[in-house]
Amino acid sequence: MIDQLLMEPFGADIDLAEAVLKDYNAHLVRKASSMKGHYADADALEKLIQQGDPLHYEVFEKAVPQETGHLQFGLSKLQPGTVGEEFFMTKGHYHEIPEAAEVYLCLRGKGYMLMKTTEGECRAEYMERGRVVYVPPYWAHRSVNVGDEPLITFYVYPGDAGHNYGDIEEEGFPKRIYKRGDKVEIL
Ligand code: F6R
Ligand code: ZN
Repeated sequence: MIDQLLMEPFGADIDLAEAVLKDYNAHLVRKASSMKGHYADADALEKLIQQGDPLHYEVFEKAVPQETGHLQFGLSKLQPGTVGEEFFMTKGHYHEIPEAAEVYLCLRGKGYMLMKTTEGECRAEYMERGRVVYVPPYWAHRSVNVGDEPLITFYVYPGDAGHNYGDIEEEGFPKRIYKRGDKVEIL
Protein backbone atom coordinates (compact mmCIF):
# COMPACT_ATOMS: atom_id res chain seq x y z
CA MET A 1 0.00 0.00 0.00
CA ILE A 2 2.64 2.48 1.08
CA ASP A 3 4.64 1.49 -2.03
CA GLN A 4 1.97 3.16 -4.17
CA LEU A 5 2.47 6.41 -2.26
CA LEU A 6 6.25 6.41 -2.48
CA MET A 7 7.86 9.04 -4.61
CA GLU A 8 11.40 8.61 -5.88
CA PRO A 9 13.98 10.64 -3.95
CA PHE A 10 15.87 13.13 -6.06
CA GLY A 11 18.74 15.59 -5.87
CA ALA A 12 19.09 19.05 -7.34
CA ASP A 13 22.04 21.37 -7.94
CA ILE A 14 22.30 24.99 -7.00
CA ASP A 15 25.23 26.93 -8.37
CA LEU A 16 26.00 28.74 -5.13
CA ALA A 17 28.37 31.24 -6.71
CA GLU A 18 25.71 32.42 -9.15
CA ALA A 19 22.70 31.43 -7.03
CA VAL A 20 21.05 29.50 -9.84
CA LEU A 21 18.87 26.38 -9.51
CA LYS A 22 19.86 24.00 -12.30
CA ASP A 23 17.30 21.93 -14.23
CA TYR A 24 14.27 23.59 -12.66
CA ASN A 25 10.93 22.40 -14.03
CA ALA A 26 8.61 25.16 -12.82
CA HIS A 27 9.16 28.87 -13.48
CA LEU A 28 6.98 31.78 -12.38
CA VAL A 29 7.60 35.20 -13.96
CA ARG A 30 6.14 38.45 -12.69
CA LYS A 31 6.63 41.68 -14.61
CA ALA A 32 6.02 45.21 -13.37
CA SER A 33 2.42 45.00 -14.68
CA SER A 34 1.68 42.21 -12.16
CA MET A 35 2.34 44.67 -9.34
CA LYS A 36 -0.58 47.10 -9.81
CA GLY A 37 -1.97 48.22 -6.47
CA HIS A 38 1.12 47.27 -4.48
CA TYR A 39 3.33 50.39 -4.70
CA ALA A 40 2.64 53.73 -3.07
CA ASP A 41 3.37 55.61 -6.33
CA ALA A 42 0.89 54.15 -8.85
CA ASP A 43 1.92 56.70 -11.52
CA ALA A 44 5.57 55.68 -11.29
CA LEU A 45 4.57 52.03 -11.72
CA GLU A 46 2.42 52.92 -14.75
CA LYS A 47 5.39 54.75 -16.30
CA LEU A 48 7.59 51.71 -15.77
CA ILE A 49 4.98 49.48 -17.44
CA GLN A 50 4.76 51.89 -20.42
CA GLN A 51 8.55 51.90 -20.70
CA GLY A 52 8.57 48.19 -21.55
CA ASP A 53 7.09 46.41 -18.56
CA PRO A 54 10.40 45.05 -17.21
CA LEU A 55 10.88 41.78 -15.40
CA HIS A 56 10.24 42.18 -11.68
CA TYR A 57 10.86 38.75 -10.18
CA GLU A 58 11.01 35.06 -10.91
CA VAL A 59 10.58 31.85 -8.95
CA PHE A 60 12.43 28.67 -10.00
CA GLU A 61 11.32 25.32 -8.61
CA LYS A 62 11.81 21.61 -8.66
CA ALA A 63 8.10 20.84 -8.56
CA VAL A 64 6.79 18.36 -5.98
CA PRO A 65 3.15 17.47 -5.22
CA GLN A 66 1.31 20.25 -3.40
CA GLU A 67 0.23 17.81 -0.70
CA THR A 68 0.55 17.29 3.05
CA GLY A 69 3.92 15.84 3.95
CA HIS A 70 5.79 17.24 0.98
CA LEU A 71 8.03 20.31 1.06
CA GLN A 72 8.07 22.91 -1.70
CA PHE A 73 11.46 24.45 -2.34
CA GLY A 74 13.12 26.68 -4.90
CA LEU A 75 14.76 30.02 -5.57
CA SER A 76 13.13 33.43 -5.63
CA LYS A 77 14.99 36.06 -7.70
CA LEU A 78 13.92 39.69 -7.28
CA GLN A 79 15.43 42.34 -9.56
CA PRO A 80 16.94 45.56 -8.14
CA GLY A 81 15.25 48.89 -8.73
CA THR A 82 12.67 51.33 -7.45
CA VAL A 83 9.13 52.39 -8.29
CA GLY A 84 9.27 56.07 -7.47
CA GLU A 85 11.41 55.87 -4.33
CA GLU A 86 10.10 52.49 -3.18
CA PHE A 87 12.37 49.48 -3.60
CA PHE A 88 11.25 46.60 -5.83
CA MET A 89 9.36 43.95 -3.88
CA THR A 90 7.30 40.80 -4.29
CA LYS A 91 3.50 40.88 -3.97
CA GLY A 92 3.58 39.04 -0.66
CA HIS A 93 1.04 36.60 0.73
CA TYR A 94 -0.31 34.69 3.68
CA HIS A 95 -0.32 30.96 3.20
CA GLU A 96 -3.76 29.51 2.48
CA ILE A 97 -3.08 27.20 5.42
CA PRO A 98 -2.02 30.05 7.71
CA GLU A 99 -0.26 27.69 10.14
CA ALA A 100 2.31 26.91 7.45
CA ALA A 101 5.70 28.46 8.23
CA GLU A 102 8.52 29.09 5.75
CA VAL A 103 12.32 29.25 5.88
CA TYR A 104 14.32 31.53 3.58
CA LEU A 105 18.10 31.40 3.10
CA CYS A 106 19.57 34.40 1.33
CA LEU A 107 22.12 33.41 -1.32
CA ARG A 108 22.77 36.75 -2.99
CA GLY A 109 21.97 40.43 -2.71
CA LYS A 110 20.62 42.54 0.13
CA GLY A 111 17.09 43.06 1.28
CA TYR A 112 14.42 42.62 3.86
CA MET A 113 11.70 40.11 4.56
CA LEU A 114 8.72 42.26 5.49
CA MET A 115 6.21 40.36 7.62
CA LYS A 116 2.78 41.18 8.99
CA THR A 117 0.02 39.55 11.02
CA THR A 118 -3.73 40.06 10.60
CA GLU A 119 -3.57 42.05 13.89
CA GLY A 120 -1.26 44.56 12.21
CA GLU A 121 2.06 43.56 13.81
CA CYS A 122 4.84 44.25 11.31
CA ARG A 123 8.53 43.21 11.24
CA ALA A 124 11.37 43.72 8.77
CA GLU A 125 14.14 41.13 8.95
CA TYR A 126 17.38 41.95 7.15
CA MET A 127 18.70 39.51 4.52
CA GLU A 128 22.12 39.12 2.98
CA ARG A 129 24.13 36.12 1.78
CA GLY A 130 24.18 33.45 4.49
CA ARG A 131 21.33 34.86 6.57
CA VAL A 132 18.32 32.69 7.30
CA VAL A 133 14.89 34.16 7.99
CA TYR A 134 12.17 32.17 9.70
CA VAL A 135 8.65 33.20 8.76
CA PRO A 136 6.46 31.76 11.55
CA PRO A 137 2.88 30.55 11.13
CA TYR A 138 0.30 33.33 10.49
CA TRP A 139 2.75 35.94 9.15
CA ALA A 140 2.26 37.34 5.64
CA HIS A 141 5.63 37.82 3.95
CA ARG A 142 7.11 39.89 1.15
CA SER A 143 10.74 40.23 -0.04
CA VAL A 144 12.16 43.70 -0.71
CA ASN A 145 15.43 44.22 -2.64
CA VAL A 146 17.42 47.17 -1.24
CA GLY A 147 20.65 46.36 -3.11
CA ASP A 148 21.88 46.93 -6.63
CA GLU A 149 21.95 43.29 -7.75
CA PRO A 150 19.23 40.61 -7.75
CA LEU A 151 18.07 39.43 -4.32
CA ILE A 152 18.11 35.63 -4.48
CA THR A 153 16.71 33.44 -1.72
CA PHE A 154 16.26 29.70 -1.29
CA TYR A 155 12.96 28.86 0.39
CA VAL A 156 11.23 25.79 1.86
CA TYR A 157 7.62 25.51 3.00
CA PRO A 158 4.97 22.81 3.49
CA GLY A 159 3.69 21.28 0.27
CA ASP A 160 0.04 21.95 0.95
CA ALA A 161 0.49 25.54 2.28
CA GLY A 162 -0.98 27.31 -0.77
CA HIS A 163 -0.94 31.09 -1.28
CA ASN A 164 -3.50 33.64 -0.15
CA TYR A 165 -2.76 36.87 -2.05
CA GLY A 166 -6.23 38.38 -1.64
CA ASP A 167 -6.18 39.26 2.07
CA ILE A 168 -2.82 41.02 2.02
CA GLU A 169 -3.78 42.83 -1.19
CA GLU A 170 -6.75 44.29 0.69
CA GLU A 171 -4.87 44.98 3.94
CA GLY A 172 -1.53 46.10 2.52
CA PHE A 173 1.66 45.99 4.60
CA PRO A 174 1.84 48.70 7.31
CA LYS A 175 5.44 49.49 6.32
CA ARG A 176 7.16 50.37 3.06
CA ILE A 177 10.88 50.48 2.26
CA TYR A 178 12.24 53.52 0.42
CA LYS A 179 15.50 54.59 -1.18
CA ARG A 180 16.30 58.10 0.05
CA GLY A 181 19.63 59.10 -1.49
CA ASP A 182 22.05 56.41 -0.30
CA LYS A 183 19.83 55.55 2.66
CA VAL A 184 17.27 52.83 3.18
CA GLU A 185 14.22 54.02 5.08
CA ILE A 186 11.59 51.72 6.54
CA LEU A 187 8.50 53.76 7.20
C1 F6R B 1 6.36 30.67 -1.23
C2 F6R B 1 7.08 31.93 -1.05
C3 F6R B 1 8.03 32.39 -2.14
C4 F6R B 1 7.30 33.48 -2.93
C5 F6R B 1 8.14 34.19 -3.96
C6 F6R B 1 7.30 35.15 -4.81
O1 F6R B 1 5.45 30.45 -0.20
O2 F6R B 1 6.90 32.64 -0.10
O3 F6R B 1 8.43 31.36 -2.97
O4 F6R B 1 6.20 32.85 -3.55
O5 F6R B 1 9.15 34.91 -3.33
O6 F6R B 1 6.55 36.01 -4.01
P1 F6R B 1 4.95 36.10 -4.15
O7 F6R B 1 4.44 34.68 -4.09
O8 F6R B 1 4.51 36.88 -2.98
O9 F6R B 1 4.62 36.72 -5.47
ZN1 ZN C 1 5.28 31.92 1.33
